[in-house]
Amino acid sequence: MSLVVFPFKEEKPEVLLRNVRIALAHPRVKEVLCVGASEDHCFRAVSAAIPELSREYGKRVTVIVQERLGELRPGKGDGMNTGLKYFLEETQHARIHFYDADIVSFSEEWITKAEDAADEGYQVVRHYFPRSSTDAMITWMITRTGFALLWPRSALPWIEQPLGGELLLTRAAAELLLSDPRVRRQSDWGIDTLYTFSMVAHGLPIYEIYIDAGKLHKLYGALTDLKTMLIECFSAVQGLKDEDVPAGTVHHFEYPGPVRQGVKERVGYDFERTLWLLREKWTDRQVELLELFPRPVREGMLACREYPRFSFMDEDAWAETYLVLLERFDPADADWRELLFKLWIARVLQYTTAVALRGYDHALHYLHRMVARYVHRALLGGSAA
Ligand code: DGY
Repeated sequence: MSLVVFPFKEEKPEVLLRNVRIALAHPRVKEVLCVGASEDHCFRAVSAAIPELSREYGKRVTVIVQERLGELRPGKGDGMNTGLKYFLEETQHARIHFYDADIVSFSEEWITKAEDAADEGYQVVRHYFPRSSTDAMITWMITRTGFALLWPRSALPWIEQPLGGELLLTRAAAELLLSDPRVRRQSDWGIDTLYTFSMVAHGLPIYEIYIDAGKLHKLYGALTDLKTMLIECFSAVQGLKDEDVPAGTVHHFEYPGPVRQGVKERVGYDFERTLWLLREKWTDRQVELLELFPRPVREGMLACREYPRFSFMDEDAWAETYLVLLERFDPADADWRELLFKLWIARVLQYTTAVALRGYDHALHYLHRMVARYVHRALLGGSAA
């Protein structure tokens, strides 16, 4: 039997409660745990609804505030690790599922497919979804790029959605993850990177299941909304750069189905508002830091102070930039954080206009090939056209 965990922060209580009900109704689910970032209005609404839910389904439902377990900004990482700790210390269930609390397309199928794959013997089951070609820009440009450049022989670059928060772990997998000090300290947005990294580093067999309905959740505006996530996800990769990851993890994935028009047509962020971020918040020190980067990047970024530019930040320029960032980026330094943000924006805008404009199928094929070219580059140098 399984425990289902929903980490949450300031969500709409009706969305979370609907998802809790779906989980409780599932025959494989014995218990549901909601882990709140604080005692916000959602926490209070869910707490008030619990006694009745428990009675109605005859199953245990609990809501708790996340513990302070890690060492970085207290965030999603503490929430997920609190869920893991509860699962291992307070229950005897065989499996744990995590789902983001704000998903409006959550259904019984998400649980069933994960349970079916676990029945086949996989220790980790990850859900992946069709996403628009301009969504997932941290996933593609930061996480998958970094995994390819740093661990080209491992399964890491090939994990479809390494930042996905929807997954199932067996008890043994949960034990390995929570006892990994690298995972435990990662209290911020970097947690998904660390879970993915640790499961591959420990050689756990992984199955990625495809959820056709997609993950409909809140939309982003200008890319500023993602700034903290970007910085924490990059720092998470950077903090791991000297670690070894063995090749040979069993990693299978379900072939994706046809993607709905709505997902294909969806625009992931507000282009115009994002464009102007390239001109903002320049300091003399950021200009100095640009000296560390290859000339086209340095000159292109300097020109942004007058007028937003980005066509210079192609795939190769981004790889060069990324390698400098891995060595030099300092997450404690506000100028470095702002510079990383602007460099990433230049990459996202270049990709959007040069690749995503040509259509969804072209873009998704490009992104997958881009990862493969980065793997090739890391193994053999240069790029594999
Ligand atoms: C990502 O890149 O996957 C983040 O969720 C932002 O879309």
